[in-house]
Amino acid sequence: MFVSSKSLLEKAREKHYALPAFNTSNLEMSKALFGAAEQMKAPLLVQTTPSSIEYAGLESIFSIIKTLSKNSKIPACIHLDHGRDLGLVKRCTALGYKSVMIDASRLPFNKNAALTRKAVKIAHWRGCSVEAELGSLGRLGKASLTDASQARLFVKKTGCDSLAVAIGTSHGAYKFKGKPKIDLERLREISELVSVPLVLHGASSVDKKLVKKANRYGAKLGHTAGVPMKDLKRAIKLGAAKINIDTDLRLAFTAALREFHAKNPKDFDPRNALEFAGQSVKKVAAEKIRAFGAKNRARG
Ligand code: G3H
Ligand code: 13P
Ligand code: ZN
Repeated sequence: MFVSSKSLLEKAREKHYALPAFNTSNLEMSKALFGAAEQMKAPLLVQTTPSSIEYAGLESIFSIIKTLSKNSKIPACIHLDHGRDLGLVKRCTALGYKSVMIDASRLPFNKNAALTRKAVKIAHWRGCSVEAELGSLGRLGKASLTDASQARLFVKKTGCDSLAVAIGTSHGAYKFKGKPKIDLERLREISELVSVPLVLHGASSVDKKLVKKANRYGAKLGHTAGVPMKDLKRAIKLGAAKINIDTDLRLAFTAALREFHAKNPKDFDPRNALEFAGQSVKKVAAEKIRAFGAKNRARG
């Protein structure tokens, strides 16, 4: 069953849990994510970036997710992650996406707000909710963090349904040089002034065990660092209701592929390797659902 993200996220914020939003670009990841959400009886947010849409084809990836959703009992939402222009927002909403992000965080405040406002008009007309972003994530501490009073003004001006904030996280597996520095005090200030659900990007924890496993089977990942789960749990208490996870799924998938081929050198049926990798993604996704308090929330 396809649902909009607005009610799912508002409920999550109100009840102090968060929904992980999982990135996908293919059948195997998507199957694994539905499997995890069903096992945990949790609502599911799956999201596709412009580059994963380019990889899979918009209609193809949408049909896969829609069909999985039709055959499943849990509420699921398909979301456009990091949409950069109104063209893609229009294509996704026309096709049936229930949620879109317009990411104009690279622009100055007024231009960001103006583009976001346009996306809100397009999406709301189709009954689709909108995530916007203020502040930018950057890499290795080069972010420009979100200011709380600007955030309040931004939400008021744009009418967005949720807001991605920059508090020191960043995308990928190399988020920090030294110790993670997540500005939870800033999140508290934003949360006090902004009532829409808050979104954290770049929230993978980059599990050391997975990195070790990948390296054991031939990867050369070197130093990696992610967001500690204890910081994410505190962020959830402070109003983070959607927490984006991509890197951890990629690590789980590719480490398992490496492991499968190392242990089964004579097996050349891709379905066996992909099934094994999917199981590993399912496990990681289920762990996130449990850790963020979203288990058994499928009915609210
Ligand atoms: O938030 C962005 C993703 O984690 C990376 O996106 O699909 O363009 O590689 P991508
Ligand atoms: P990670 O790279 O930390 O998984 O972040 C994913 C994300 O923010 C997708 O929008
Ligand atoms: Zn992101």
